[in-house]
Amino acid sequence: MEQNGLGSKMRAGILGTGSALPNKVLTNQDLEKIVDTSDEWIVSRTGIRERRIAGATEATSDYALLAGQRALASAGIQAEDLDMIMVATVTPDMMFPSTASLVQDRLGATHAAAFDLEAACSGFMYGEFLASGLVNSGQCKYVLVIAGDLLSRITDYEDRSTCVLFGDGAGAAVVGLVPKERGFLAFHLGSDGAGGKFLYMPGGGSRLPASQESVQSRQHFLKMEGQETFKYAVRAMGVSVERVLSDAHLEMTDVDLLVPHQANVRIIEAIRQRLHLDPAKVMYTIEKYGNTSASSIPIALDEAVREGKVMQGQVALMVGFGAGMTWGAVLVRM
Ligand code: UT7
Repeated sequence: MEQNGLGSKMRAGILGTGSALPNKVLTNQDLEKIVDTSDEWIVSRTGIRERRIAGATEATSDYALLAGQRALASAGIQAEDLDMIMVATVTPDMMFPSTASLVQDRLGATHAAAFDLEAACSGFMYGEFLASGLVNSGQCKYVLVIAGDLLSRITDYEDRSTCVLFGDGAGAAVVGLVPKERGFLAFHLGSDGAGGKFLYMPGGGSRLPASQESVQSRQHFLKMEGQETFKYAVRAMGVSVERVLSDAHLEMTDVDLLVPHQANVRIIEAIRQRLHLDPAKVMYTIEKYGNTSASSIPIALDEAVREGKVMQGQVALMVGFGAGMTWGAVLVRM
């Protein structure tokens, strides 16, 4: 329901995007020296050639801040104008205060409320959904949605089945009112906690607080059953795409760019083939950044905007999935 006082002329949409990545590159050749793996295995099974890794003294908020500043600059909005900041992350700077609160302070967003949201790799979809609701209801004018993760911090570099996959980075979007011809067209979000056992980090929470034993038994690293997660991803993303298209009364041919979560090029290809999409209509960043968790979609969206792969008035379809299990899709006319 629209309560923004602007009748049918305006609705929530994306005003600007930004992203930030570490400079340090970790290549497949680097990983060959750390674990029993090969460039050939990693490229053929995942499509990844390199990923970015944050410096030892850096934290998620450093990249979230930069991505947020860039999104604000691209939207032409001042930090003081923000009503709300959300940071989607599974690797906050610390358990509390929230990374969003740290970013709010450093941005100088003196009028903004701030909180973190946790929906793993689907976090950006969840954030956009919330931001759209807040803007359309008139409760917020400008919302900054940031997704930031330093997955290198919870990656076990003795586990070859996961350590080749992940990288660090952040992406962001400013959500506000746009003319009704543009803006968010449809959302679909899903969750199935029964799948939580396929991708999780056991240690560090209230169930298993940090102890000498938890550290020694490597409980503070993420654990994943790759094949189960893979199957889940293809199924869930397919459902979400079909739902948003049908809710918006659009066909896949109306979509100008698919911006999928970058977890594995084989997952992206499975979705692309299911949707009969030309590769030119799909955003790929996996080769150079690996899986950057919640940030992967906003980083890819920001690159697409900057490279002119999606222009104002064109339709972008973002779709992702992650631990939880969670998944979702966002259809937006830029
Ligand atoms: O964003 C969060 C969501 N995460 C994902 O979407 C990940 C989804 N899953 C995947 O992308 C894939 O399942 C992986 C890339 C994680 C694994 O690929 P796979 O084709 O499913 O391989 P697999 O787990 O079936 O392993 C095949 C073989 C095994 O050896 P054996 O048992 O056949 O002898 C593994 O031990 O490959 C071996 N292997 C490796 N070999 C070289 C596993 N990791 C590696 C490695 N280098 N890094």
